[in-house]
Amino acid sequence: MEFSKVLVTGGAGFMGSHVVDALIERGYEVVVIDNLSAGSLSFLEGAFRQQKIPLPPSRPA
Ligand SMILES: NC(=O)c1ccc[n+]([C@@H]2O[C@H](COP(=O)([O-])OP(=O)(O)OC[C@H]3O[C@@H](n4cnc5c(N)ncnc54)[C@H](O)[C@@H]3O)[C@@H](O)[C@H]2O)c1
Repeated sequence: MEFSKVLVTGGAGFMGSHVVDALIERGYEVVVIDNLSAGSLSFLEGAFRQQKIPLPPSRPA
């Protein structure tokens, strides 16, 4: 069985965002679930740029 879509929990974190980048690089469609309790949307900047999707505004601190 071959998968083309991957769910990454904690994808806006340090490890997760690298996993997201690696999966996109390999052609997977990636869905991220992250409550941003510790990570940052800025870690996903490259992934958003690569998909030509504007980075959503960060939540106020
Ligand atoms: N070298 C560096 O620049 C750097 C930076 C940050 C972290 N680190 C290291 O990386 C390691 C930690 O990285 P990590 O990726 O495991 O942790 P992380 O905290 O970076 O990532 C965890 C992610 O899970 C999310 N999360 C937590 N609970 C959640 C929930 N209930 N629902 C949804 N999302 C949730 C957080 O918001 C976060 O984005 C540590 O060893 C740390 O020292 C290194």
